[in-house]
Amino acid sequence: MLSYRHSFHAGNFADVLKHTVQTLIIEALKQKPKAFVYYDTHAGAGKYSLFSKYSSKNAEYKEGIEKIWQQANPPEEISTYLTVIKELNPDDKLATYPGSPLIAHKIMSKQNRLEFSELHPTDYALLDQEFGHLRSANIAQNDGYKHLKSKLPPIQRRGLALIDPPYELKDEYNDVIKNIKQAHKLFATGIYAIWYPVVSRHHVERFCNQFKNSGIKNILRIELNVKEDSNEDGMTGTGMVIINPPWKLAQQMQQVLPWLLEHLQQDKQANYKVEQIVKE
Ligand SMILES: C[S@@+](CC[C@H](N)C(=O)[O-])C[C@H]1O[C@@H](n2cnc3c(N)ncnc32)[C@H](O)[C@@H]1O
Repeated sequence: MLSYRHSFHAGNFADVLKHTVQTLIIEALKQKPKAFVYYDTHAGAGKYSLFSKYSSKNAEYKEGIEKIWQQANPPEEISTYLTVIKELNPDDKLATYPGSPLIAHKIMSKQNRLEFSELHPTDYALLDQEFGHLRSANIAQNDGYKHLKSKLPPIQRRGLALIDPPYELKDEYNDVIKNIKQAHKLFATGIYAIWYPVVSRHHVERFCNQFKNSGIKNILRIELNVKEDSNEDGMTGTGMVIINPPWKLAQQMQQVLPWLLEHLQQDKQANYKVEQIVKE
């Protein structure tokens, strides 16, 4: 079943958190001159028009990127992400939002490889059109987990895998855990950044506990809840589980999250957390 289209959600508060974390990890990898690979297992279309019939339907970006992109004095840690957004929208009007593949492409140098997988035929075609000509990129219309595992470990021995499933199916949480454990066996020193929505607090805590009990070491959890938990109110928050996070990431997110909370909160119960859930 492939009913999910990211264009409905592009630029929402969950994208803001995910793409901020993504840019900070890539910037950390760039600190060393050695090449690395960026894997995007659920790549989406790569780029979104915010005026398309999809994006404008619920206009989720209005509760996300639109609230922050032109704020004065943002924290230094979010500057790479905001620069990508501003360069894509040079006319001072927010019209285009980059997906994770475009963000990676914009901030990585050509010596580093891009591995994108996307199952949806329409989004795959858009992705291929945008990046297929790049020598540094491989675009696969394949299951993201299968593709990732087939490419591990990278010869460069350095890499980040962004795992960003739609969580449409009940089993998707278990699929993430199972596949991450397998990928981690193949490439234990890689960085894995797994996105999750906060729709049901119960599911989220179970998911994070599965990571705690996975046997994998060095796991950071980052969460931004823009309103009170609710089982009836759709997505009230968003988080990332990061395996082998760069050493400064927790500290950087402690700087960024209060600012994001200030601008993105939707009620007084809004909160954030940065927690090392498994030690190194
Ligand atoms: C949340 S969106 C990705 C957004 C993108 N990572 C970004 O941040 O711009 C999830 C994508 O995963 C795709 N998808 C779903 N199941 C997949 C699978 N098993 N393998 C690869 N792609 C899949 C969907 O078609 C959808 O485009």
